[in-house]
Amino acid sequence: MSKKTFYITTPIYYPSANLHIGNTYTTVAADAIARFKRLTGYEVMFLTGTDEHGQKIQRIAEDKGVTPKEYVDGIVAGIKELWTMMNISYDKFIRTTDDYHIKAVQDIFKKLYDKGDIYKDSYEGWYCTPCESFWTETQLADGNCPDCGRPVEKAKEEAYFFKMSKYADKLIEHIENNPEFIQPESRKNEMLNNFLRPGLQDLCVSRTSFNWGIPVTFDEKHVIYVWIDALSNYITALGYGSENTEFYQKYWPADVHLIGKDILRFHTIYWPIMLMALDLPLPKQVFGHGWLLVDGGKMSKSKGNVVDPVTLVNNFGVDAVRYYLLREIPFGADGLFNNEIFIKKINSDLANDLGNLLSRTVTMIEKYFEGEIPAPITKDVLDDELINLALTAPKKVEDAINALKIPEALEVIWELIGRANKYIDETTPWILAKDDSNKERLGTVLYNLIESLRFISVMIYAFLPTTSEKINEQINTETTAWNSLSSFDGTSAGTKVNKGTVIFPRIDVEAKLAELEALREAQIKTMQKSQIKPIKEEITIDDFEKIDLRVVKVLSCEPVKGAKKLLKLKVDLGGEERQVISGIAKYYKPEELIGKNVVLVANLKPVKLRGELSQGMILAAATDDDSELFVVNPGELPTGNIVR
Ligand code: MSP
Repeated sequence: MSKKTFYITTPIYYPSANLHIGNTYTTVAADAIARFKRLTGYEVMFLTGTDEHGQKIQRIAEDKGVTPKEYVDGIVAGIKELWTMMNISYDKFIRTTDDYHIKAVQDIFKKLYDKGDIYKDSYEGWYCTPCESFWTETQLADGNCPDCGRPVEKAKEEAYFFKMSKYADKLIEHIENNPEFIQPESRKNEMLNNFLRPGLQDLCVSRTSFNWGIPVTFDEKHVIYVWIDALSNYITALGYGSENTEFYQKYWPADVHLIGKDILRFHTIYWPIMLMALDLPLPKQVFGHGWLLVDGGKMSKSKGNVVDPVTLVNNFGVDAVRYYLLREIPFGADGLFNNEIFIKKINSDLANDLGNLLSRTVTMIEKYFEGEIPAPITKDVLDDELINLALTAPKKVEDAINALKIPEALEVIWELIGRANKYIDETTPWILAKDDSNKERLGTVLYNLIESLRFISVMIYAFLPTTSEKINEQINTETTAWNSLSSFDGTSAGTKVNKGTVIFPRIDVEAKLAELEALREAQIKTMQKSQIKPIKEEITIDDFEKIDLRVVKVLSCEPVKGAKKLLKLKVDLGGEERQVISGIAKYYKPEELIGKNVVLVANLKPVKLRGELSQGMILAAATDDDSELFVVNPGELPTGNIVR
């Protein structure tokens, strides 16, 4: 009989994403599931990779003065190193710049075009020339480019479109008939109610404004939209569209696409529709997990609260990090990453519960039986309780993982760890050891503890592989197969234990927190330094003289109707009055500006913003992410004064 198969995928990561603990979370969770499935007899394909095309990558590369491929090659090497460090057992790593992927995506695009599901039309929108970006009316920020804030122009671009709406009813039916397709349940309703039922628009699936992408074979000035390119990876990685489709035949449809909730729409609408159009089966499940938040909300570079997995692993070891992610974050909901909770969890669950159980057991075997595991001889109701709990645990863990309830699976294992520690307190081996007539009882107790540790070690392997190996070394076991957990006698009496070092040393919480804080501050400083934007091309004093900067007083200030970000200011330029529209409503209330002196770029060509004339621009300094902004303050100089 052929083996059961299991195909699990993570998203493919943007090389520009600067992987943090949140991205690491998806991959660690997928790894635990993949390892678990292998352990329980499945042939597993675990896919991860990188999503390397798109305008953003092209721009970063241009800024750095390298080719996009040179840029991504360097980053991808780092991502692979991160996965090695995190013990990620992926079976395949796909890069969307791989030849076979490019060819298969081109074939997919052509197939959809030949079928009539992709057609050529033009795309009307707003164009920002400096950014080379097309925007729809709704994407504009107060009528301006949402990226740079500059004015945009109406433009038309030729593009290919995908007839999404053609498949909408079929997809709704599929989602309704297959309750496990989108998980967790709440996300399914969000997709149906917010996107599918209101009606789908055709999707623009090609671009001509940049070229770092997969060219459309029959119309080379177009590159294929990155999401069409990226989503296809789940089948091209298996050889779909190549000469060898063996893996595709074997593993498709995927058992689960594991993704973050932010990219659910792409995976549960665009992707299934692409597959339907290609007449291919849909994945069995798309699971959208929650966000990993830090104190202060989402991680962001500018807030300086990005948690770096490398720092954590260097300080606490890979399994402590894996444990926290898998145990503490409710799978499917948002969870918090907090250093203090993390360290306390290591101390309680890993150092105390698991670490102590191992070291106490092995130490007692060394002390009372010269390191040789004794045979179980006596029987007691306390033993039965422990043994029963151990024997029923594997099935519970398996059920939890099959339902993708990772924290619950770990809870079952920790219940057994807790029970085994309690068993030590109840049976008091150190008292039994005082009297030689209790030798058989003492031997039985220690055997039961070692066998429990063997159960624990096999069960934690998928989650904490390194720790499992360390335990196996100390209890000197070779019976690590999942089906060895069907009976409580896998340890051979007479085996010698190897007392090793403490698997999770206790951590001084206060001292470690202080150390991490100092490290974080140092990292922010280095990051800030590396992020200073390159100075623009040199100009002469004559160039500068062309800009007329003046001190002006704000006479009146009010919001611009229908434009949340804009304020309309009347300013006095020393006798002359001007009207200026400024995108600073997020930072200042109108009354805070009235009567204040500010600096005006006075000879800027007037423009109309939201139908209002703007004669000049107010100078201001802002953070990169625009979270903070201050208008430049010229003090109490007379209005009309030149600023040099
Ligand atoms: N390239 C796309 C995916 C294409 S899949 C065909 C992408 N890449 S990403 O690098 O931006 O994000 C990868 C994954 O990391 C996503 O699933 C995203 O949800 C996840 N996360 C990013 N930040 C996260 C947290 N703070 N917490 C949990 N997951 C987060 O999207």
